[in-house]
Amino acid sequence: MNEDPTNNVTSGPAATAEEEVQTRSNTIVRPTDHQMPLELRGVTIRYEGGGADPLTIVEDFNLGLEAGTMHCLAGRSGSGKTSILTVAAGLTMPTAGEVLWEGQSLDAMDDDEISDRRRALIGYVDQGGALIDGMSALENVLLPAVPDGQVAERTEMAKNLLGLVGLGRRMHHRPAQLSGGERQRVAIARALILGTKVLVVDEPTASLDREHANQIIGILKDTTRDGITVLVATHDQELIDVADSRTYMN
Ligand SMILES: Nc1ncnc2c1ncn2[C@@H]1O[C@H](COP(=O)(O)OP(=O)(O)O)[C@@H](O)[C@H]1O
Ligand SMILES: [Mg+2]
Repeated sequence: MNEDPTNNVTSGPAATAEEEVQTRSNTIVRPTDHQMPLELRGVTIRYEGGGADPLTIVEDFNLGLEAGTMHCLAGRSGSGKTSILTVAAGLTMPTAGEVLWEGQSLDAMDDDEISDRRRALIGYVDQGGALIDGMSALENVLLPAVPDGQVAERTEMAKNLLGLVGLGRRMHHRPAQLSGGERQRVAIARALILGTKVLVVDEPTASLDREHANQIIGILKDTTRDGITVLVATHDQELIDVADSRTYMN
């Protein structure tokens, strides 16, 4: 532990401690050890009704996630789970309230900054975990590394991730040759390839039988043991039960 009170950059992962972020207001923000990876404050999400009255889906929603924990958004279809996930991932902006990544409000970032920070921080697995048909599992996992030209550097990690999700011997198979559960596992590996700290996952077990659903639950739980924070939307009671905390939407 660093006891020097003037220096709030202490242990923690080296990459985080060395990161200094220039915000639009020109302040240098140094992440501290205790910053939550993801926080939502007073988030309200309202959709225009195409002529009808606007529909308020989520109102004054608050959530703070500690590193290495899993939070579950539970609730029926249409209750706003996906809406919260996309807001948390900075893919859509809330009508009111704010989202903070490692203590920094997205309100203080421009679009490019949000994209850059998202790439470094958040892996998003959308519902169904869509993969590219013409590519192998390994190529799919490496896809996020293409824009930065990091495919070669990340190949070993991609193979390791596929091994961790139990697909070490399937890495050259195409999506059509994989089961639904296997495809979902490839999508999770892909979301982790850039060294993600926060995994945002939309209904990962929805279309799976119990056995394959349980494999996915095990993988998500394992990622939290590696210090990754998981925000998952589901109505799968077993997944709801293994989460460290949960919100029931209605
Ligand atoms: N872009 C949008 N414009 C208008 N209404 C939307 C939009 N996205 C979602 N909705 C509506 O908001 C509600 C919540 O949707 P969603 O967040 O997808 O819920 P869930 O993921 O829990 O099924 C639904 O009634 C849906 O039709
Ligand atoms: Mg949804």
